[in-house]
Amino acid sequence: MKNSKKKTAADSRSVMHRLVMPKDSNTLGTLMGGVLMHWMDMCAAIAARRHCNRYAMTVTVDRIQLASAIQVGEVVILEAEVTRAFRTSMEIGMRVVAEDLSTGEKRLCASTFYSFVAVDKEGSAQPVPELVPETEEQRQRYRDAEKRRASRLEDAARIREEAERFRGG
Ligand SMILES: CC(C)(COP(=O)(O)OP(=O)(O)OC[C@H]1O[C@@H](n2cnc3c(N)ncnc32)[C@H](O)[C@@H]1OP(=O)(O)O)[C@@H](O)C(=O)NCCC(=O)NCCS
Repeated sequence: MKNSKKKTAADSRSVMHRLVMPKDSNTLGTLMGGVLMHWMDMCAAIAARRHCNRYAMTVTVDRIQLASAIQVGEVVILEAEVTRAFRTSMEIGMRVVAEDLSTGEKRLCASTFYSFVAVDKEGSAQPVPELVPETEEQRQRYRDAEKRRASRLEDAARIREEAERFRGG
């Protein structure tokens, strides 16, 4: 079964702002990685659900490198949008920017890709609309998504083998 709808990246775009409070921090007074990852997952999930208008489950998160610590009192801006849709899965590009409210300065702290699968209430995978890239940058990300997906599926095959060995004892 195929989903015949088409959507653009702008249709799924999700932007969240969070003011970093002391409760979000580690013992050094900077934003805790796990809290940031929770916000990132939420932002990516909104983009995925906007694209497919169904439930969507996180399947993979690519490498996350935290380039710069984020201080209590700074604002975190999270931006996500679908970069490519496959049959039931979607790749979502994510960018994390920190804003220092005292100076207005913004810096890129992390960027990565998520993959989500659209599912029904029973959790079985469902077809998603096609993503139509509109700009040259979007077309480049769309083309590159194929290679990233192949690498994730290789990882998935390795993990499946590991799970088999674990079952075998
Ligand atoms: C998401 C899930 C339902 C998919 O089930 P499944 O049995 O793998 O289903 P399928 O084999 O039909 O795969 C569904 C899609 O996921 C893709 N997929 C599966 N593993 C993947 C991986 N590691 N990386 C990227 N895509 C992957 C498949 O390629 C397929 O996409 P396509 O239809 O666009 O080609 C299942 O893997 C799952 O429940 N995972 C746990 C998710 C979870 O708990 N997330 C946290 C809560 S939101």
